[in-house]
Amino acid sequence: MTPQHPRFARAYARAVPAINLRGGTEHRRTLLAGLRGRVIEVGAGEGSSFGLYPATVESVLAVEPDDYLRELAGAKAQAAPVPVTVVPGTAENIPADDGGADAVVVSLVLCSVAD
Ligand SMILES: C[S@@+](CC[C@H](N)C(=O)[O-])C[C@H]1O[C@@H](n2cnc3c(N)ncnc32)[C@H](O)[C@@H]1O
Repeated sequence: MTPQHPRFARAYARAVPAINLRGGTEHRRTLLAGLRGRVIEVGAGEGSSFGLYPATVESVLAVEPDDYLRELAGAKAQAAPVPVTVVPGTAENIPADDGGADAVVVSLVLCSVAD
């Protein structure tokens, strides 16, 4: 079972649109620019980055431990310009093989990663 943070999840989902408007989207665009191939995004939240992946990205495996955020992310994945698959998991236990990605993206996540 993946860790759940129901209060944080709901508060973050409410706050993130304003964060994105106040510069978050531009930071995300900079973070994702130049990526290509197979990408794993760890702690994808409600999927704010999905719409910003460049066309050079073949696929994104979006790992999100929280059920509430993962459900919101699933809806955003369907509207993304590149194929995005949202799955449960954590940074400590990424559901992919070694060498299974060309890049790994983390955004506002590492403060809660134990190892
Ligand atoms: C501040 S939110 C950031 C969400 C998203 N990356 C963004 O930029 O909007 C932190 C996210 O990290 C996730 N998270 C917390 N601990 C994690 C862990 N150990 N492994 C993976 N994700 C984790 C949370 O569920 C939440 O989605």
